[in-house]
Amino acid sequence: MNPDRSHQPTTPDHAPGTPPAEERRTVVPEGFFATKDPDGDPARADRSAREVFSEIYASAAWNWGDDTGFDETASRSGVGSDLVQTAVLRAELPGLVAALGVRTFLDLPCGDFFWMSRVELGVESYLGADVVPEVVERNRERFARPDREFLVLDLVRDPLPPADLVFSRDCLVHLSHDDVRGALDNVKRSGAKYLATTTFTERAANDDIETGGWRPLNLRVAPFHLPEPVHLINERCTEVYVVERGGEQVELRFADKSIGVWRVADL
Ligand SMILES: C[S@@+](CC[C@H](N)C(=O)[O-])C[C@H]1O[C@@H](n2cnc3c(N)ncnc32)[C@H](O)[C@@H]1O
Repeated sequence: MNPDRSHQPTTPDHAPGTPPAEERRTVVPEGFFATKDPDGDPARADRSAREVFSEIYASAAWNWGDDTGFDETASRSGVGSDLVQTAVLRAELPGLVAALGVRTFLDLPCGDFFWMSRVELGVESYLGADVVPEVVERNRERFARPDREFLVLDLVRDPLPPADLVFSRDCLVHLSHDDVRGALDNVKRSGAKYLATTTFTERAANDDIETGGWRPLNLRVAPFHLPEPVHLINERCTEVYVVERGGEQVELRFADKSIGVWRVADL
């Protein structure tokens, strides 16, 4: 589902530490925040994450340039991954990693590594992984170096390589409740010490979706009930989605969008 591309804002680079200033409004179609359809097409529900997300990338559904192809100055992983919406995170991540004593960093999913390529984490090894092989291959060609590798991995189903921290930004929000639980269990099995992942701290409830959709997710409430995170970074998200609901235009804001850090032992 493509948001209205005519509302694509410009995305100037912000110096790290400079919070994004202005709200950014995007008109999204009715049904953008679809919940799970109990009578949904079982063939769709059975599609693998690799199929679902490969199709999203191939159709440039998250790269809101023009219709002639990818906008190479923007992230292919969506406007939430641009240099405005990640300014706070880019500034704070190296300090967080140092404070937690992280030496091996697993970025799962890494997406197109657009904003992360601007961060020097100060770790011994960075491993970026994603379920879409074409995205991983492109990252390898552009960004691999001796201390930075890229792998194809499914966060929900594949055994995960050892890491001090699993960093999983903007991923669980795209997964069904079952897949979110599967991902959390998989991280537990991996033996990692910390999980840092997206959570919307003010949401009172979570809607279930088909994997491939999107909704804000608060990991502290049902059905996940994670404890208080040991650390929280509010991303100061300025995205505003304007959606038609019952003939009215409703504005949805995400100022509570955060990265929560949990001890994996507490998941
Ligand atoms: C919105 S992007 C976010 C990427 C990156 N974390 C960022 O902040 O730019 C979501 C990514 O999740 C990946 N993904 C979805 N399900 C996955 C899974 N089960 N295992 C690994 N990657 C997955 C998609 O291919 C996509 O690259």
